[in-house]
Order: sequence, then structure tokens, then C-alpha cells
Amino acid sequence: MDTDRLLGELADFLRIPSISTLPTHDADCRAAAEWVARELRRLGCREVQFLASDAHPVVWGAGPEVPGAPTLLLYGHYDVQPPDPLDEWTTPPFQPTVRDGKLFARGAADDKGQVFCLLKAIEAGRPPVNFRFLIEGEEEYGSRALFDMLHREPERTRADAVLIADMAYVAPRWPAVYTALRGLCYAEITVRTAKSDLHSGEFGGAAPNAHEELLRLLGRLKTADGRIHIPGLYATVKRPSKTELATWKRLPFRDGEFLKHRVQAKALTGLKAYPVLERLWALPTFEIHGITGGFTEDGAKTVIPAEATAKVSLRLVPDQRLNTVERQLAAAVKRAAPKYVEASVRFLHGADPATVKVTHPAFKLLDRAFREVVGRGTVPVRAGGSIPVVPALGKGGAPVLLTGIGLPDDRLHAPNEKLDLEQLWDGIRVFRRFYELLGSRGVGAKS
Ligand code: BES
Ligand code: MN
Ligand code: MN
Repeated sequence: MDTDRLLGELADFLRIPSISTLPTHDADCRAAAEWVARELRRLGCREVQFLASDAHPVVWGAGPEVPGAPTLLLYGHYDVQPPDPLDEWTTPPFQPTVRDGKLFARGAADDKGQVFCLLKAIEAGRPPVNFRFLIEGEEEYGSRALFDMLHREPERTRADAVLIADMAYVAPRWPAVYTALRGLCYAEITVRTAKSDLHSGEFGGAAPNAHEELLRLLGRLKTADGRIHIPGLYATVKRPSKTELATWKRLPFRDGEFLKHRVQAKALTGLKAYPVLERLWALPTFEIHGITGGFTEDGAKTVIPAEATAKVSLRLVPDQRLNTVERQLAAAVKRAAPKYVEASVRFLHGADPATVKVTHPAFKLLDRAFREVVGRGTVPVRAGGSIPVVPALGKGGAPVLLTGIGLPDDRLHAPNEKLDLEQLWDGIRVFRRFYELLGSRGVGAKS
């Protein structure tokens, strides 16, 4: 493998700050889409199109037609999360740098590095597979454009299998295949207490304070024991099966090590009655991402804020529905606000949870590819994260193979995101072998 050339090409991709949630980066998102399109053309795609959105186009491609060969749809995303806080990066997020066998950059693991593996694995072998590509630019922002497109044109997902590489091994040398993803419900909760801000000396002691009300409201929605007090929220939540719990117990996962090396905090929190992996993979969450309003500049200003907003999200687990949870959250906020406080909820984006049965023959091929390259097959696990379009990609009936070549300590969405170079090269080898197996054996009735 020409690792120098490949590393240079991946670095070009990583240098583009394609942050989908910030409108100031629309042109960068477009540039990243162009980068992907150029790669697809280089792979001989007859058809490369930009679809659904001007700012964050979905890049669609159809590879050279191989009559009689199976069709494989590859999905990934070229958009990334904002890199802040910037001063915590050892080297800047959009200046890809190799240190200690690891490539540091925003998007190295999530998901540019993995999209890179999917594409470069084709280049080397040109396997007899009919490739289709859906590489989108709004995954980190709810995938609205792709959703609408798949609703209008469901035939784009027609394939014998869908392969997604946007996750990680469960531990070094332990590749994984995912049986479930959590969903997401992202919202802003705004509290208004007065017509405008007030002097805290003139009015303090007798006027309501928006921040204080917001904090009390949030404190009612989730208590220190980790329980979320949104009526009905847990009604459809099921415990994982005995087999799943038993599999998870055998994984190389230790609470103490997770706390010390990954969370790097002083204690784990949440519903203590449940094992940590169940809390991460099979229970809903409620997180506060940021609070704005009032005075947050340098210096001091004595003011009683009239308005405060919290950005929050819930993770949803199988059998919960985004629509239902939105209603439940809106009702709970209303209930938790005192009469003299105006509380409102604005929903920004979201995703239903996804479940995947891993029984289709295509999973055996993926397992075999990992076994041959890495020395161990895929262990079935769940993910705490979300990929909004997964349920839509599976609607046509094709098996959705959810896997990844990252490692659990890649620091997705956080400072110093990285991808181990060994994972990168193995990733290319694994997918190349998977394509070969798929091309020579096929899967299902069609092939
Ligand atoms: N690749 C992640 C999802 C992921 C992370 C799955 C870790 C499994 C383990 C994806 O890019 C992501 O971050 N998704 C967002 C979706 C959201 C913004 C709608 C997420 O989970 O926060
Ligand atoms: Mn991702
Ligand atoms: Mn992500």
C-alpha cells in the first residue's frame, strides 16, 4: 500500500473545515463534497451527482456497472462537528498531524477517515461489485436533506447490502458489528420571566430570574440519581435480552478503566442500578449542552436576566419514537414551569433509534473479512450514538452493516480527535477483503 500517497490524500480531505452546523462554513462543506465527487469520478463512477441541498449536498455516485454482480451501497458523511474549544487541541483541528502513529484532526475518525477507507478499498482491487455511494454532509446536524431525498426517491437505497463505517471497535483488536443505535431528540428550552432585563439592586429580591427558573426547571426534569422525570418516557423502554447482557459482560470493558481513561472524571453518574454498558447503549439520556442568556461577557454586570435558553438533547432507545418523545418533553417542560414563567420548547433536529438484525449472510462475509485481516471476527454490540438515516437506509429491505474501524478512545466531537494509522490501513484491507468476498460469493437470492 502506498501509505505516503494515501496519507497525503486523506490530509487534503481533513484540511477542509466542513462544519455543517455553522452557516459560515457552507462553502467548506461544498468543497468537501467536491473532494468526494472527485474521488468517485476517479473510481470510474459513471454518475456523480449533488443532490438535495446547495449548502451541504448529498454526493451520489454509481460505480461501473458489473452485470450480475451484487449491489453494495456505501454510506458515510463528509461533515464534521465544530472543533471548539480550540485551545485544547495540541495541533490545530484542520491541520492534520501525525504523532505517535496517530493522525490528529477533526473528522479523522468521524467520519472522513472511515469514508476514505471505504473508497480506497475499491481503488486497490476493483472488485466485481456494483457500487452505489451516498456520502452526505448533514449527518452531524440531523440529515434533513438526505431524509427528504430518500422519501422522494426511495429507489436510491435499492441494494443487496448497505455498508456504513462510522463507528469503532469495542476495544483494540475487537471489531464490532452494531445491532442498535440510539435515537436523538435535540431541543432548546427557553424560559422568559419578564419583559426585559432588570437592575439586580432595584429589583433583586422581588423579581423572577430567568436563569434561576431555568435551572430549577432543568433540575426537575432530571434528578441527581440519573432518573429523567418526563412522564411516559420509560414506558416503552425494554431491558436488553439475556443473551445481549451476557455478551456485554464478556467484552473487555471495565467500569474503572472506562472512568479513568475514557471519561477522565472523578466518578460515573447515572442510574446506578444498571450496568454501565446498559446505561450507555440501552437507556435514554437527558443532557444539557449549553445555557445562554443574561450576562456572560468579561467583567461584571448587575442584571436580572429576563430570558435564558438551554440546548438539551435526549438519546432514545429501541421502541421509543422521536415524535412521541417530542410531545412528552414539551408537556414535561410545561408542567415543570411555574405559572409566572413562560417556558417554550423548540425542536432543532432528531432521529429515531435503529435496530439491525445481524443474521443476513452478508454479516458472515464482514465477519470473515475482519477475522482474516485483524485476527478476530465481529462482536455484536450496540452504540450509544446516533446516525439519523439508518432506519431509512434499511427500508428497502437490504441488510445494513453497521461497523467501523475507529477505536473507543478516538475522542469524537472532542478536542484532539484522532485515528490510529494501523486502524486506517487495516480498515482499507478489511473493506477490500469484504468487497472481494461479496463480489465472488454474492449474497441473497438476487446474486
Ligand atoms: N459517528 C457518529 C455516531 C456514533 C458515534 C455511533 C459513536 C456510534 C458510536 C455520528 O457522526 C454522530 O455523531 N451522530 C450524531 C447525530 C446527531 C447529531 C443527529 C450524534 O450521535 O450525536
Ligand atoms: Mn459519524
Ligand atoms: Mn459525529
